[in-house]
Amino acid sequence: FTTGVLAGRRVLITGGPTYEAIDPVRGLTNRSSGKMGYALARAAHEAGAEVCLVSGPTCLTTPAGVRRVDVQSATEMREAVLRELPANVFIAVAAVADYRVEAAAPQKIKKSGGGLTLTLVANPDILAEVAARPDAPFCVGFAAETERLAEHAEAKRRQKKLPLLVGNLAPDTLGADAAELVLFDDDGAHRLPRADKLEQARALIRHIASHLN
Ligand code: C5P
Repeated sequence: FTTGVLAGRRVLITGGPTYEAIDPVRGLTNRSSGKMGYALARAAHEAGAEVCLVSGPTCLTTPAGVRRVDVQSATEMREAVLRELPANVFIAVAAVADYRVEAAAPQKIKKSGGGLTLTLVANPDILAEVAARPDAPFCVGFAAETERLAEHAEAKRRQKKLPLLVGNLAPDTLGADAAELVLFDDDGAHRLPRADKLEQARALIRHIASHLN
């Protein structure tokens, strides 16, 4: 019963991991299957929205009716997101790498037998940047934590100035088909019992729609 709740709305979603090159054959990434972002894209389309999914590298197929923009690095993801704005809703599900290698090597790095030191620089926070814009969409963040979920989730919601942040426990959710989510908004915490990610996505879309209306 999500049909039509987002009719006429433009929804922009990031999903999957980002991949930060070290050299042409190696890189740094985060653990993320992309399943939650793709499930949300599908649920938002079912709800009648025009959906753009900016996706890092995943093995998943694009949900029907969803426009997908493929990116690799956080820098590319940021550029794609800024190009796709404005939107009514921005759901940042991607596990964006916090750091990138300052200067990726143009050729494959050869083993020297010794150690290797990489200089990492911070990546831009895409969600915080979008949420701070004067034309900011309704922004939803995700936080995968390994402990003290409520505390970390509320802190992130405040830092990034988000109306809604979705928390989940990391070892539980990574790559899995099901997830247990906790929604944090101005009304407090609201737990969605463990269920299939598509079912969770539909519940989350209904929750987002209720915030908009
Ligand atoms: O700070 P943390 O990475 O845990 O925040 C998670 C939320 O912020 C997610 O919604 C994620 O997609 C988003 N994010 C982002 N750009 C970053 C880091 C996180 O959009 N560089």
